[in-house]
Amino acid sequence: MALLSALAIWLGGGAYVMLGAQPEAPEEPPSAETETVADATEQPIAFSHEHHVTEIGIECQFCHAYARRGPVAGIPPVQTCAGCHEVVLNEEPEILKVLDYWENEEPIPWVRVHNLPDYVRFSHKPHIRAGVNCADCHGDVGSMEAAVQVESLSMGWCVTCHEEQDANKDCLVCHY
Ligand code: HEC
Ligand code: HEC
Ligand code: HEC
Ligand code: HEC
Ligand code: HEC
Repeated sequence: MALLSALAIWLGGGAYVMLGAQPEAPEEPPSAETETVADATEQPIAFSHEHHVTEIGIECQFCHAYARRGPVAGIPPVQTCAGCHEVVLNEEPEILKVLDYWENEEPIPWVRVHNLPDYVRFSHKPHIRAGVNCADCHGDVGSMEAAVQVESLSMGWCVTCHEEQDANKDCLVCHY
């Protein structure tokens, strides 16, 4: 999966589709055991989850604020970064890049990592409400630099957990 993520980053936008359409992706071992740390330099900014989550202690939902409320967790706007970095480390080269985006009112062009095919209906909200943890689906992001995909996101992966947790398995729950 690290390979796929690397591919996605390497190929840029075009690979989103590839990542989404990977029905034959082999099952990955449980995410906690997967030591995949992407090279943060592949993203436009060398943003480290480990720094921000584990060392500084910022909650996932401070940055991914929509997870509880809607389908997408969302990537934080540059404003969230600027809120701290106009003051914190504001002379470091990597932070100057962030502040450039902020001053030019341009979004940071983060490379998307996860992407389900369009015919799949997925929403964060019911999962967060039911108490499923971010780590159950995304692994230990707090020990990653750039986020990487650690689960296959295959239908089998979704359905297995729905079976285990007594969630709905009707086709139309996940398909339009
Ligand atoms: C819990 C969610 C979930 C349920 C329930 C579910 N699916 Fe899926 N299904 C998915 C996901 C996710 C994919 C995309 C898999 C991928 O990209 O690897 C998928 C893919 C598919 C595909 C495309 C497979 C391919 O090889 O391209 C078909 C067809 C499909 N599902 C049919 C069904 C049918 C029929 C049912 C009911 C018996 C069903 N699904 C129930 C999540 C679900
Ligand atoms: C300080 C803000 C911040 C915090 C806190 C944070 N993230 Fe992120 N997250 C980002 C940014 C920026 C990106 C885009 C760069 C990347 O993909 O690494 C991202 C990307 C992601 C992605 C990949 C999104 C995609 O493109 O598919 C996941 C999954 C993710 N974060 C999960 C988490 C989890 C889980 C936590 C808590 C353990 C967390 N994040 C905490 C800022 C944050
Ligand atoms: C709540 C405050 C806060 C927010 C919000 C925040 N950061 Fe940080 N960031 C920090 C602190 C504090 C450090 C120093 C961490 C350390 O050295 O352990 C840091 C370090 C960094 C570094 C490393 C700088 C270097 O070269 O040493 C980068 C890059 C960075 N942040 C980018 C971002 C981006 C991009 C965002 C928005 C997605 C963001 N930060 C959001 C507080 C924040
Ligand atoms: C039940 C599994 C599951 C849980 C729990 C989960 N996610 Fe996700 N997450 C996904 C899937 C699947 C995608 C890809 C969605 C798509 O492509 O439409 C995703 C995408 C994302 C993205 C990319 C941007 C977006 O919103 O599509 C971020 C960021 C993210 N998740 C963060 C989080 C955070 C933070 C938490 C905990 C608060 C969390 N996720 C909980 C499965 C999950
Ligand atoms: C780690 C376990 C887990 C995984 C993995 C998981 N789900 Fe779920 N899902 C749940 C639980 C628990 C619920 C909430 C059930 C409830 O509230 O009754 C849920 C609810 C849902 C719902 C709302 C169902 C409803 O009745 O409204 C949808 C849609 C859904 N999941 C789609 C998916 C898709 C698509 C995937 C794979 C991409 C996926 N889920 C992966 C555990 C999981």
